[in-house]
Amino acid sequence: MRTEGRSDKWWKNAVVYQIYPKSFQDSNGDGIGDLQGIISRLDYLQELGIDAIWLSPVYKSPQDDNGYDISDYQDIDPMFGTMEDMERLIAEAKKRNISIIMDLVLNHTSDEHRWFLEAQKSKDNPYHDYYVWRDGVEGTPPNDMIACFGGSAWQWVPEVDQYYFHQFSVKQPDLNWENPKVRREIYDMILWWMDKGVGGFRLDVIDQIAKEPDLKITGNGPRLHEFIRELSKETFQKGNMITVGEAWGANPERAKLYSNPDGSEFSMVFQFEHIGLDQQEGKSKWDLAPLDFLKLKTVLSKWQKELYQVGWNSLFWNNHDLPRIVSRWGNDGEYRVESAKMLATVLHGMQGTPYIYQGEELGMTNVKFPMEDYRDIETLNLYAERKEAGYPIGAIMESIYSKSRDNARTPMQWDSSTNAGFTHGTPWIKVNPNYTEINAESELQDENSIFNYYKKLIRLRKDHEVFVEGDYELLYADHPDIFAYTRTFGNIRLLVIANFHGNTIPFSLPSEYEGRLKLLISNYDTPLEGTLRPYEAAMYLVR
Ligand code: NOJ
Repeated sequence: MRTEGRSDKWWKNAVVYQIYPKSFQDSNGDGIGDLQGIISRLDYLQELGIDAIWLSPVYKSPQDDNGYDISDYQDIDPMFGTMEDMERLIAEAKKRNISIIMDLVLNHTSDEHRWFLEAQKSKDNPYHDYYVWRDGVEGTPPNDMIACFGGSAWQWVPEVDQYYFHQFSVKQPDLNWENPKVRREIYDMILWWMDKGVGGFRLDVIDQIAKEPDLKITGNGPRLHEFIRELSKETFQKGNMITVGEAWGANPERAKLYSNPDGSEFSMVFQFEHIGLDQQEGKSKWDLAPLDFLKLKTVLSKWQKELYQVGWNSLFWNNHDLPRIVSRWGNDGEYRVESAKMLATVLHGMQGTPYIYQGEELGMTNVKFPMEDYRDIETLNLYAERKEAGYPIGAIMESIYSKSRDNARTPMQWDSSTNAGFTHGTPWIKVNPNYTEINAESELQDENSIFNYYKKLIRLRKDHEVFVEGDYELLYADHPDIFAYTRTFGNIRLLVIANFHGNTIPFSLPSEYEGRLKLLISNYDTPLEGTLRPYEAAMYLVR
């Protein structure tokens, strides 16, 4: 039962909604979101108008990294439900014309995966070579590579007297893609999911699969695109899948390969060049710096131009690894509603497939928790490491408030009842205390809500071909506050104007457009005249 009824390249005018299952909706009171919970909220997503759900991992997992450590790719973790629930979700979503995009974590498994349990038994176990092993150097690791979550990237196993390589936690051993048997197992597993009727896949850290640890290469290894082309040919190309690779190391040149219109690799990738623009150059995301706004415009515009007709962009501000955009680059105080809408306008007018992360459509914000309320392994490790290194606690907490992944992982705010309607039990992570004001129930009732603004943006994208096809041109490139651009397709033009900041600035629409503009959407009810108010944004069709 592979996806039927979707046209070729259907994902070009699709809008994807990301669900982080643990925090979306609990149905059984254990404090953890689950599949039945998601099913119960499908009508809400249909109302929003999305075409696909990217589901963060629900596979069997010890949850060392919230499911990105998979111990069985073909089973559902009991905390999320059963395979029957999963099948029901696929079917119920399909009824609403929503495809399910599974999150494929193919760079590593859990150390509790059957393959790894075998692999560590002996060097001649048939599964040993499924992972990346090296001998130590006089009792120390093969080299000084550091894992993304801190500490050495090598872990010694006494039974085999070797070290295995892990780019993430010690419980996430890296798979050995050089081994054709590993690749075949992966392809068969993917085909099995395709037969279940899923509509696509998001590929976790896919640019790290072709690692060469002896050369200290992790991302963009020499065989990367060879592996991806084989993967695509053996699996995705046999169905009408939407595929999106997570590629932190992508530049436009590489993205053209990944998203080649010939379909030889993926539909698109997530690139992160804009995401690093509020950190100190050459340092980590925790080393905060103000957003370089001019650079943001340059970077996003570069991707728009470079992939035009030769690739395809994904468009996103948020995901489960990133802080909430309204707190990050908008204003989560006085202008929360205006700035959330402005950010949505700027993004959704661009060319590419937009991704909305759960709660973004409500303008959900970052949290400031006491340390004991954080759950994310990356945040906990960072805190321990920096404390040990002597950083002042206040500075560590500032970094965590701004960048912790838990900002995105607090429960979805459904209504103003206890725990925001997320659970009847004790939530696995605390709810953002602002749920009494910010929640879906109240936004559904308010025609000027952020939710209804997103709904309208999604609708516009479907109604006007220029959103999909239009060629992008940045306007006012050097203006310190304005983000504006046009998209042109034949004689149709879309004009997007936004004040990215909280000050009122003088502004008049370009005189060439006088009398030719039809307002499509705006975040203030009176149209702009002579000024742009704080975070004011509007989209016009030029006739
Ligand atoms: C990227 C995922 O988005 C993140 O949540 C995870 O921790 C790492 N990959 C490791 O799988």
